[in-house]
Amino acid sequence: MVKHEEWVPPGVDPNTPSIARVYSYLLGGKDHFAVDRAMGDMSLKAVPDGRRSAQANRAFLHRVVTHMMIEAGIRQFLDLGSGLPSDGNVHEVAHAHDPTAQVIYVDNDPMALAHGRALLEDSKASTVIQADVRQPDSVLGNPTVQRLLDFEEPIGLLCLGIFHHLSDEDGPEEVAARFRQAIPSGSVMAISHFFDPGEDDPDISAQVKRNEIVFRLGGGAARWRTRAEILRLLGDFRLLDPGIVPVPEWRPEPGYTVDLQPYTYHTFIACVGVKP
Ligand SMILES: C[S@@+](CC[C@H](N)C(=O)[O-])C[C@H]1O[C@@H](n2cnc3c(N)ncnc32)[C@H](O)[C@@H]1O
Repeated sequence: MVKHEEWVPPGVDPNTPSIARVYSYLLGGKDHFAVDRAMGDMSLKAVPDGRRSAQANRAFLHRVVTHMMIEAGIRQFLDLGSGLPSDGNVHEVAHAHDPTAQVIYVDNDPMALAHGRALLEDSKASTVIQADVRQPDSVLGNPTVQRLLDFEEPIGLLCLGIFHHLSDEDGPEEVAARFRQAIPSGSVMAISHFFDPGEDDPDISAQVKRNEIVFRLGGGAARWRTRAEILRLLGDFRLLDPGIVPVPEWRPEPGYTVDLQPYTYHTFIACVGVKP
């Protein structure tokens, strides 16, 4: 049950777990309720180093936003499934390089909207909208997105830890294609996604299938996809080096290490592509 002093923003159901709040719990954030902690603890039983895996994903976010700013000259970002504010948010990384860089956070969780608004109250160059990425036109046609993003200039499209929460019925390839089509040449799309090695590693693949069930039992949904399925999300974008790799292996800083079990290390992968 919700404790008396906990703030429940409008539209938030504190008695049903939410992916955004469970992820906040795993990252050591403050924005979660008892049901989220219960689901988080259940996932940690299945993947005991899940917290470090989430941190590795945030470190990838930091590296890829830095890459987009410095190597690709990008100054505007659309962050799909951005989650609740945490350490090292996109606007913090981007504004360290250029305080005028524009960042739009998109999440369908009402808690993400409420906390994002509170965090970004004073920021002129970042905003959060509540929208469902399964309906790309509701994101792309959103008046705030239309007003703040210049679709003639390259855009950094961040899809970190989001597409694996779309089921096959949601049409993730069509969703990705619509976003790719909307952004101009020179734009960069970054993806991190749960990975199923299939027949290349039957033991890990069997564990993946068990974890899909754990997620469903906990009230969430996640789909671990094959390398080919994940790469199709990038379409004809030019895949950047080092290709599609475990999250910690995407251009780590010298000396970067992360302590993950082989299962956790190999089942969360990243790839980045540039629109020709
Ligand atoms: C695992 S978190 C990832 C957060 C952040 N992108 C990161 O990588 O650190 C996934 C986020 O996607 C959001 N999400 C899930 N399905 C969504 C949908 N259909 N539309 C918008 N957001 C969604 C969840 O609310 C959650 O905040």
